[in-house]
Parts: sequence; C-alpha cells; structure tokens
Amino acid sequence: MDLDLTKATTNQIYNMLIGLVAPRPIAWITSLDLDGKLNAAPFSAFNYMGVDPPVVAVGVGNRPGSQIIGKDTARNIRNTGEFVINIVNESVAEAMNICAVDFPPGINELEIARLTTEPSLLVKVPRISEAPASLECREITTMEIGRTRVILGRVVAVHVKDEFVDHAGPYIRADELHAVGRMNGLGSYVKTRDAFFHITRMSHEDWLKKNNPDADNREG
Ligand SMILES: Cc1cc2nc3c(=O)[nH]c(=O)nc-3n(C[C@H](O)[C@H](O)[C@H](O)COP(=O)(O)O)c2cc1C
Repeated sequence: MDLDLTKATTNQIYNMLIGLVAPRPIAWITSLDLDGKLNAAPFSAFNYMGVDPPVVAVGVGNRPGSQIIGKDTARNIRNTGEFVINIVNESVAEAMNICAVDFPPGINELEIARLTTEPSLLVKVPRISEAPASLECREITTMEIGRTRVILGRVVAVHVKDEFVDHAGPYIRADELHAVGRMNGLGSYVKTRDAFFHITRMSHEDWLKKNNPDADNREG
C-alpha cells in the first residue's frame, strides 16, 4: 500500500504513524497547575533526543473533539516550566491507563488511581512513588506545530529504584525493570519481560573480517 499523507485524513495519518512508529516508550508526566494542583497523564509521542545536554521531547495533542482545547499537561508545563517523566513498567501499567481518562482540569488523576507521590530532587513537581524511575525536567521550549505542542525538556535529575540499578556503571537493569511500550492507539502494549535479544555491534574492522575471512591472511 502507498499512501500520500498530504491528501490523507487525520485519522488515516494517526493510524499509520502510531502503528508504524512502535513500540514507543511512555512518558507518564506529572505536572502542577498555577494553583499547585497535581496532574498526571501518559504520552507515547516521547523519546530522548540527546545527552549533552540531556534532552527529551514529548508531543501533546489537543483534547478530543472539534474545539481546540489543549491538554492540561502542556498548559502546566508552559505555565510552570517544570515536569517529571515517570517511567511505566508492568506493575504500574493499569494505574497509568486510569491517568489517561479525559478528566476535567483540576482533577488529581493520581488520587483516583490510588497512587502516591514523593518530592523530587530539583523540581517542585513531585514524582510518582510507585513508578520504577523518574526523570525530572525543566522546559527548554514548547513549539506549537499545527495542533500539536512539541515540548523539549532538559533532564536535570534522575531517580531510579535501587533494585533496577547496576551500580558498576551505573547502568539500568533494563531486563529487570519490565518496562512496557505502546503499540497502536487501541489499548495495545508490549512487554519487555524475557524479550531481550542481542546483536553484537560491529566496528568496520569486524565487519570486514566477517565478510572477507581471507582479508587478514592477505594483509599478512
Ligand atoms: C499509553 C498512552 C499514550 C498516550 N500518548 C499520548 C500522546 O503521545 N499525545 C497525546 O496528546 N495524548 C496521548 N495520550 C492521551 C492522553 O494521556 C490523555 O488525553 C490525557 O487525558 C491527557 O491528560 P491531561 O489533559 O491531564 O494532560 C496517551 C494515552 C495513553 C493511554
């Protein structure tokens, strides 16, 4: 199938992109409104963009419906300049889903999902205690592109539960963390438990050896 997206409907575009750009990590974002009320919602238009400085990007659409009403997360981040990305694993996946209900502004989704929070290290926005890890972020900028707000954030602190840290690196024990990813938009997720496989990264020299076993002899 070939599809010209310049002539496609928004629904067609959505179906293609969420089906093909998958699995996606989930940024379960906590943010505060100007009155200090806590908000939490998941976003899978999310990834890290770089490490020097540490930058993440999140894409936030409008609320469903014909009117252009932005989501609380994007508004809170614009107003306060801070947010926390909580990482989603199997143990908090159901609670994360409750936070995606389109509650009216001012509702604390975390209370409804029976979750607790604790203070962050550098930002005012608390992190979700039950999440395996959290990234504390300060807004770099929010770009309004059509009906999407692309939020770039600088990660200023990271919290990871000790059981998921190999202190040698430190590394994340990703095979223990059991993160979940989002597939399409129909409630489909993917588990990472027992799902790891490895492909050895090759240097150019390794590749030449593998593809031309006599190369060493000829050079000698
Ligand atoms: C797993 C998952 C991923 C989601 N990803 C996005 C996303 O990338 N962008 C978006 O605008 N909404 C996304 N949503 C929908 C929002 O979470 C939902 O609209 C939420 O109510 C927004 O809350 P807020 O108004 O408190 O910010 C996602 C929902 C789920 C369950």
